[in-house]
Amino acid sequence: MEASMPKRKEPGKSLRVKVISMGNAEVGKSCIIKRYCEKRFVSKYLATIGIDYGVTKVQVRDREIKVNIFDMAGDPFFYEVRNEFYKDTQGVILVYDVGQKDSFDALDTWLAEMKQDLGPHGNMENIVFAVCANKIDCTKHRCVDESEGRLWAESKGFLYFETSAQTGEGINEMFQTFYLSIVDLCENGGKRPNTNSSASFTKEQADTIRRIRSSKDSWDMLGVKPGASRDEVNKAYRKLAVLLHPDKCVAPGSEDAFKAVVNARTALLKNIK
Ligand code: GTP
Ligand code: MG
Repeated sequence: MEASMPKRKEPGKSLRVKVISMGNAEVGKSCIIKRYCEKRFVSKYLATIGIDYGVTKVQVRDREIKVNIFDMAGDPFFYEVRNEFYKDTQGVILVYDVGQKDSFDALDTWLAEMKQDLGPHGNMENIVFAVCANKIDCTKHRCVDESEGRLWAESKGFLYFETSAQTGEGINEMFQTFYLSIVDLCENGGKRPNTNSSASFTKEQADTIRRIRSSKDSWDMLGVKPGASRDEVNKAYRKLAVLLHPDKCVAPGSEDAFKAVVNARTALLKNIK
């Protein structure tokens, strides 16, 4: 599978790439593609049956790219159809619905499905992933916020976009950056271009922010046992403050996590003699 890269070509020459869409059923994969390619939005849900295929040409810098788009069905029923199509892919549009937590939680399962189908020699490192946090127009139902989505995407070195296929927000920007990154990847001998943010925070910082977000109370947030002493609370606080201080940490959500830690410490110290 190392051979999944299209051959390096001279600058200015045309390039042919394969792009797939991935994500749970009904998150808006087909609508995102339709919005970009046909400049329209269909509000009625027409589930993709297995796979939809389309070809489009785009200009990136001095290159014309012929893009083969395979729009996958998200329903588990179509797994057998999907699994034929993962190989030889240069770009993945990975979509979730910001109003459906399940669709966000499922992103890891989608990556696992792809990895499994690529087999032991498959290399996900030479594929550009664009994560679309879709349906941002539905503000009332939103339950996955930007920093949570961005943290997940950027800690994996993926691109992240807030999109609405309905209003068109973020769609052009997403495709332009996505195609540009694919061309960079092809010209870079198959190595995914570094996104600034992927190199700018550590896994420990990302994991700590996630842990803080899901903590059940202030003890849990600081990572101390209920009934811990002032010293233990202060020690745990200092460790987290160093890790997450906004001057030091640029991971998405670090500022909120830092504030939450400060508040947790204040609340605990009030009640410890
Ligand atoms: P499968 O093909 O079954 O995997 O689904 P899909 O991910 O391709 O979803 P599709 O694009 O068909 O959209 C599902 C439903 O969500 C449709 O009713 C769309 O009109 C709606 N939808 C898609 N994108 C948006 C969006 O950005 N905002 C809103 N409000 N609705 C959207
Ligand atoms: Mg579809």
